[in-house]
Amino acid sequence: MTRFVYSADTHFGAVGPIYHQQNSYVERLPELIDCLARWIKRRGDINFVLHGGDMVNAGTAENIQLAAEGFVPLSPMHLSLGNHDLTEDNSLEAWLSQAPKLLCGGQPDYTIETEDCAVHIAPTQWCGIPYRWESELEPDLLPEQIERLRRSIEERSDVLHLLCTHSPVFDVPPAQTGWDDPFHLPPEGFTASVMSLVNRFPQLGCVMGAHSHVNMHVEEGGCHFVTVSAFSEAPFEFKVFEVAGGEVRMSTRDLAKEVEFEFTYDDTRAYAQGRECDRSFVCHPNLHR
Ligand SMILES: [Fe+2]
Repeated sequence: MTRFVYSADTHFGAVGPIYHQQNSYVERLPELIDCLARWIKRRGDINFVLHGGDMVNAGTAENIQLAAEGFVPLSPMHLSLGNHDLTEDNSLEAWLSQAPKLLCGGQPDYTIETEDCAVHIAPTQWCGIPYRWESELEPDLLPEQIERLRRSIEERSDVLHLLCTHSPVFDVPPAQTGWDDPFHLPPEGFTASVMSLVNRFPQLGCVMGAHSHVNMHVEEGGCHFVTVSAFSEAPFEFKVFEVAGGEVRMSTRDLAKEVEFEFTYDDTRAYAQGRECDRSFVCHPNLHR
């Protein structure tokens, strides 16, 4: 069985107000990292941690160096770069040279192969310059990223495949937020390009995103699309994925009872944690659909 923790939106190095959904304790990140490391050690069966992006709040060389050192307690850890990780012209270069252990094979796009599954990392693009974020929020994937995913899935068509972008592929449904409008609705073109993979490859059972700081779970075309709430916000949630025998199981956990500092939770924003149906699923994709 392959078991991994999925966490995101830590915004390491943030100073002052930042985008958030729940109350943010980003200044407590070193303690939260140690707390999750203890949780993983106690559990004893987690193979790796996957970070879904926005590891740092600004992708400066200094922040990247500090993050590479600061997240060591969660090793082995893999990263799917988010928009906040790519704020500088030299951000990608800094990740590759200063944090090579977070990016397998020295590339921002790569695949984590296990006996049970393949977990593909394909960071979302945000503007005309690949692997760079200025201010636009127009997520997309490059044609060469889609082609790499196609080839990688075809190479191991007998196992389950999971994909990690940073941008959500679907919005947070109004039924979850209670609002009239969809929340974090991505551009149609991005959703269509991921759905073209889902429709072609029934082996693609789950697509993980982040970015919204909200737990979301939408099933479409037999594939489960999820996002995870921000790890540095109360109640410090993360996902556990368990993959075996062509089945993927996801649950949402938190560190509320584990942290050693006082924190408060904003009940008016409980939609960020979601309903039970937004927080867990079991998927048995039909590999021969
Ligand atoms: Fe983001």
